[in-house]
Amino acid sequence: MKCPVVAVLAVSTLVPNVHCAANQIVWCYHHSSCNESTWAGAAPMCRGTRQSPINIVSHLARSDSSLTPFTFRNYNSTSALTTISNTGNTVQVTIDSGVQISGGGLSEPYDSLQFHLHWGDGSSVPGSEHTVDDKRYAMELHIVNSKSSYNGNTTLAIKDSEGLTALGFFIEEMQGNATDEPKGWWTLTSYLSNITNSGDSVSMAPGISLDDLLVGVDRTKYYRYLGSLTTPNCNEAVVWTVFKDPIKVSRDLIGLFSTTIHFSNSSSQFMTNVYRSIQISQEVTTQPSSSRSLSATCSLGLVVLSLILGTLEVTC
Ligand SMILES: *[C@@H]1O[C@H](CO)[C@@H](O)[C@H](O)[C@H]1NC(C)=O
Ligand SMILES: *[C@@H]1O[C@H](CO)[C@@H](O)[C@H](O)[C@H]1NC(C)=O
Ligand SMILES: *[C@@H]1O[C@H](CO)[C@@H](O)[C@H](O)[C@H]1NC(C)=O
Ligand SMILES: *[C@@H]1O[C@H](CO)[C@@H](O)[C@H](O)[C@H]1NC(C)=O
Ligand SMILES: *[C@@H]1O[C@H](CO)[C@@H](O)[C@H](O)[C@H]1NC(C)=O
Ligand SMILES: *[C@@H]1O[C@H](CO)[C@@H](O)[C@H](O)[C@H]1NC(C)=O
Repeated sequence: MKCPVVAVLAVSTLVPNVHCAANQIVWCYHHSSCNESTWAGAAPMCRGTRQSPINIVSHLARSDSSLTPFTFRNYNSTSALTTISNTGNTVQVTIDSGVQISGGGLSEPYDSLQFHLHWGDGSSVPGSEHTVDDKRYAMELHIVNSKSSYNGNTTLAIKDSEGLTALGFFIEEMQGNATDEPKGWWTLTSYLSNITNSGDSVSMAPGISLDDLLVGVDRTKYYRYLGSLTTPNCNEAVVWTVFKDPIKVSRDLIGLFSTTIHFSNSSSQFMTNVYRSIQISQEVTTQPSSSRSLSATCSLGLVVLSLILGTLEVTC
C-alpha cells in the first residue's frame, strides 16, 4: 500500500513544509526554533536509549555468524525508482512495490520503500550520519525497509522494535579527476535541478536501478545494531545495517546536493548539513573473519527515518 502523499506534494509545491500525519512534529536541522536540540520536546522518543546514528568502533564489533549475505530482489530493476522529492530536509526517492530484501540475519523479508540521503557541504564538509572509528564520510544513503508481513503498514512497523530495517551506505569522493561518475549517480543528480524547492517532486524515467547506485560495495560486509529513525519521531524500531565499503562518487556530483537544492524556496539557504549528531553507543556485531575472529572472541567479555516526507512514508 502506497502513501498518497507523493501525489499530493506534486500539486502543493506552493505550500512549503507539507505535513502528513497529525502526529508528525515540525522539525528541522538549521533553525534554532526546530533544530535537533528541540526534537525531544515534541517527540520524546528522540531522547530514548537506542537512538541512531552512532559512532561504530570497529575493533569492538562482536563476531556473529548469523549475519549472512542478503538476497536483494529487484535491486536490478531499472523501473523501480519512481519519484524523487525535496522534502525540505532531504532528497528522497520512492521505490516501487516488489523490491525486497531478505537474509542478512533478518527475521523475515522486508519491503524496500524509499531511500534518502544525508550530507554536509560538498565533499570538504562531510555529512554522513554514522561514523566509523570517528571518521565521517561525505554523505550517507539510507534505504528504508518495512517488514513484508505488515504489507506496507508502517504504523504497525514503527510499533515493532524490529519493524523497520535500514541499509546505510557511505558515500566518499572518488579519487582522480573523474567527473559525472558513476553513471547512475549522474542520472540521479540530474533530477536535482527539478526539485530545488521544498515540496517539489518529479517522476523518474526508467533507467537506473538500485544496483546502479550501490556500486563498488561488497554487500556481504556490514555492521549490525538495533537503533532508531534518525529523524523525528525517532522511533526505536530499526534494525540497522551499515555497509563497510563506501560508494565512490565524483566530487562534482557530491557538490550538487549542497549547491542545487534549498531548504524551502530559491531565496532560502541551500540545503546543507542535513544529518543528526552521534547518539550513545550500542552493541555492534559483524561477520566473523578468519583474521580477526580470535581477537573478537577474546574481547567478547569487554563488549557490551522524518523528514517531512521521510517519516511520513513511515507514519502514513
Ligand atoms: C540549535 O540551535 C541553537 C540556537 O541557535 C544552537 O545553540 C544549537 O547549537 C543548535 N543545535 C544543533 C544540534 O544544531
Ligand atoms: C534481475 O536479476 C534476476 C535474478 O538474477 C534476473 O532473473 C532478472 O532477469 C534480472 N532483471 C533485470 C532487469 O536485469
Ligand atoms: C494499519 O494497521 C492498523 C492496525 O491494524 C490499522 O488501524 C490501520 O488502519 C492500518 N493502516 C493502513 C494504512 O492500512
Ligand atoms: C588530474 O588533473 C591534474 C591537472 O590537470 C593533473 O596534473 C593530474 O595528473 C590529473 N590526475 C589524474 C589522476 O588524472
Ligand atoms: C527537469 O527540468 C528540465 C529543465 O527545466 C526539463 O527539461 C525536464 O523536463 C525536467 N524533468 C522532469 C522529469 O521534470
Ligand atoms: C521563501 O522562503 C523564505 C524563508 O523560508 C520565506 O521567508 C519567504 O517568504 C519565501 N518566499 C516565497 C516567495 O515563498
